[in-house]
Amino acid sequence: MSEINWGDLSFGYMKTDYNIRSYFKDGKWGEPSLETSETIDLHIAATCLHYGQEIFEGLKAFRGKDGKVRVFRMRENALRLQASSRGILMQELPVALFEEMVRKVVKVNERFIPPYESGASLYIRPLMIGTSAQVGVKPAGEYLFLIFVTPVGPYFKEGFKPTPVAIYREYDRAAPLGTGTYKVGGNYAASLVAGEKAHENGYSAVLYLDAKEKKYIDECGPANFFGIKNNTYVTPKSSSILPSITNKSLMQLAEDLGLKVERRQIPEEELATFEEAGQCGTAAVISPILRVDDVDEGKSFVFSKDGKAGPISEKLYNKLRAIQYGDEPDTHGWVTVLD
Ligand code: PLP
Ligand code: COI
Repeated sequence: MSEINWGDLSFGYMKTDYNIRSYFKDGKWGEPSLETSETIDLHIAATCLHYGQEIFEGLKAFRGKDGKVRVFRMRENALRLQASSRGILMQELPVALFEEMVRKVVKVNERFIPPYESGASLYIRPLMIGTSAQVGVKPAGEYLFLIFVTPVGPYFKEGFKPTPVAIYREYDRAAPLGTGTYKVGGNYAASLVAGEKAHENGYSAVLYLDAKEKKYIDECGPANFFGIKNNTYVTPKSSSILPSITNKSLMQLAEDLGLKVERRQIPEEELATFEEAGQCGTAAVISPILRVDDVDEGKSFVFSKDGKAGPISEKLYNKLRAIQYGDEPDTHGWVTVLD
């Protein structure tokens, strides 16, 4: 393989040696198989193509200073994939099979796991699609679950440098009782127009308000939202946001650091009271927010006056990364060390 410049990786796709696949057919999941092909053979009437029966996950493997490979909270991703399956009537994949396939596909692609010093990681992308033919709007009887991996750097090119985000009131990502809590491809399709508009205007992401009242903070296009004030970590409670595993981890770490944690509705005006704010997710890790512009209302909320991340966001970021890379003990049992 040509030399990979580990330090310069962005969040993009790179071919690795193998992906792993299991097919659900005749009422059961088949033995996982490793494949070198990057393509799939698909029926033209497959439900994923017509009716959006597609769900995915995102998690990461990290190489530590000790050379060991650590996968972060894969059980949580397996459980969330099951929740997404239930959300759009797809076949549930057993947690043990998910974990076995993650271990295998990471292991056989070990040479693509970035070295510790690079600060990069191996992104693991599980994906499930409905594959059998259906023209009526009904769930498929057959499914393909696959996982590919690819080495990645920061999701936002600025990395840990604060970036501005935009509220655009004319777009919703997910309905209050819709699919926002599931990791379904359709949610991301729904976010593309606003997302591109944000990028063209110099924002890293869109910050969505709740779709019903346009009053409360929901989440960002690819990440959850959190704010910090009075030694308290505050994050939205909403029926239309993805339950982020990073956010769940940060809530625990915030508590460990002696902060209060509140998961509740956050009215937009409350943004004015936060000392720090950030986006969080597997890809984003923590991406501090410089400023939120409510573009249509002509309002701005500023979180960083010097262009730097706030002290609590930085502490949380360092703590999370230290656990993921194995620099600090994994006291919560979040990490699977691969042998
Ligand atoms: N919210 C959305 C819409 C996402 O796509 C993601 C990414 O997975 C997150 C939040 C963060 O979730 P997690 O921390 O589990 O990656
Ligand atoms: C992740 O953080 O893993 C995600 O899936 C976000 C995605 C939009 C890149």
